[in-house]
Amino acid sequence: MKDIKNDFPILNKSNITYLDSGATTQKPQQVIDAMNKYYEEDNANPHRGAYKLSLRATEVYEHAREVVSKFINASMPEEIVFTRNTSESLNLIAYSYGLNNIQEGDKIVISIMEHHSNLVPWQYVSKKKNAELEYMYIDENGTIPLEEIKKKIVPGVKIVGIGQVSNVLGTINPVKEIVKRAHEVGAIAVVDGAQSVPHMKVDVQDIDADFLVFSGHKMLAPLGIGVLYGKKELLDKMPPFLFGGDMIEYVYEQETTFAPVPAKFEAGTQNVEGAVGLEAAINYLNEIGMENVQKIEENIIKYALEELTKLDFITVYGPREIEKKAGVISFNVNGVHPHDVASVLDNNNVCIRSGNHCAQPLLKYMNLESTCRASFYIYNTKEDVDKLIDALKKTHEIFKRWIQ
Ligand code: ALA
Repeated sequence: MKDIKNDFPILNKSNITYLDSGATTQKPQQVIDAMNKYYEEDNANPHRGAYKLSLRATEVYEHAREVVSKFINASMPEEIVFTRNTSESLNLIAYSYGLNNIQEGDKIVISIMEHHSNLVPWQYVSKKKNAELEYMYIDENGTIPLEEIKKKIVPGVKIVGIGQVSNVLGTINPVKEIVKRAHEVGAIAVVDGAQSVPHMKVDVQDIDADFLVFSGHKMLAPLGIGVLYGKKELLDKMPPFLFGGDMIEYVYEQETTFAPVPAKFEAGTQNVEGAVGLEAAINYLNEIGMENVQKIEENIIKYALEELTKLDFITVYGPREIEKKAGVISFNVNGVHPHDVASVLDNNNVCIRSGNHCAQPLLKYMNLESTCRASFYIYNTKEDVDKLIDALKKTHEIFKRWIQ
């Protein structure tokens, strides 16, 4: 196996131990080079010019769409809409599908472990349409029991929103079962793949998701490029979310007809650089193989869980079984505020996230205000975990005299 870390300039040029890939990943030279090449050789405004350079920009943009489509096994590239990020994709679904399909008295069901991005838009739709927003709650292991899924997803539910992997607990949710249940009761299912698509093979047709969304920047691509996958028959029926250039067919003084999908949802000049970077990131991941990506991470997570649980001053949250966990580990140093832990770790060049991780309802449900979160990706090694453990021991040494 090649030395993956070697491909990441920021990790080579500094002595940081980067454990915040759940927030955003670092970028390999191959992605940086692909974006530079685009600006050096192919840059123009796509879809707008009749000259060769503009046609090339269109070609590279549309080629990236094909690569994304294959990566998640969509049935056609038209089912891929480029957005800015997962949040924008979810807002597009909430505004365009939610506001037009939810009626008074309908139910929307999401899980208590949703990121605010898959929660606040549904609160908005529920309030606007006098619908009910209900939650599937977790057990003490940080997983949603199957009985809870059956109890909450019942006739009358019209939309089910579920994160495939929790950004706080790392729980891998049974999305296939949840989508199946949603369809049985006549609901559509929106899958938030922000923390799953970067880490495992995701097949939208196998899951049978109606919508699945994710961000490029959490999977080696640049910031500012996100994906909305939607079944073609649903996208076709949905009204545009943003209006403007390139999303129209004909514009008259008082009326407009819209372009077919995906252009209908991509108003304004597109982020070609981002799409090029995302294609390069997918090529990089495909070269390693998503099965290997998953294996590399499972080994790291397993080792990190073993080492963290050896420390009697640490509480770890979420599932312990490796087949139920991906990407992130949340924990606390007992008696020490997570922001203090993160500062001491930073002094030791270890980067983690501390706080509520954009999941306040989950933390409240767990009677917590905040946690520390270490999140991992393909460039992390056991040495990174050892550095985290050493820095945590130092943190405990500093604070132990104040802890009751
Ligand atoms: N959604 C990102 C995270 O969980 C920012 O850190």
